[in-house]
Amino acid sequence: MAKEKTLEDLFYDTLKDIYFAERQILRALPKMARAAQSTELKAGFEKHREETEGHVERLQQVFELIGKRAQGKTCEAIQGIIAEGEEIMEEFKGTPAIDAGLISSAQAVEHYEIARYGTLKTWAHTLGFKEAVTLLDQTLQEEGKTDKLLSQLATTAANQKASRAA
Ligand SMILES: [Fe+2]
Ligand SMILES: [Fe+2]
Repeated sequence: MAKEKTLEDLFYDTLKDIYFAERQILRALPKMARAAQSTELKAGFEKHREETEGHVERLQQVFELIGKRAQGKTCEAIQGIIAEGEEIMEEFKGTPAIDAGLISSAQAVEHYEIARYGTLKTWAHTLGFKEAVTLLDQTLQEEGKTDKLLSQLATTAANQKASRAA
């Protein structure tokens, strides 16, 4: 018979998934900042890179709280999302559509994170990991704010600029 697996196992597995993902995102954000044309978007990516360092640290705290080793587990979903973003960077580099493309890629990343942190926070609550709930919620809030800022940058400038291209 298969060994019993519980919500706690799922929680630990998913923590490893997002820990891997955050570290990939940390590497991708500086490239996105360099590719961005608008100063606001560049600044947004740079600010979120700093926040992402905090996300990695919070995850390390959560691993510690549950008495497990902090380790990543390959997350093919984030690798695919980042690979698509790199494709956009290559194909739209230097064109009026680059910022709109970068924003769309970044929002795919944020939505992946929001899905993961939402689930982890709910599971932490069920499992009675109170401090973990607080830590996961702090990151969830920052991902949400970043997503909203990206929407704002798209609708106030980037999409218009992209559509006005000659
Ligand atoms: Fe994050
Ligand atoms: Fe994020």
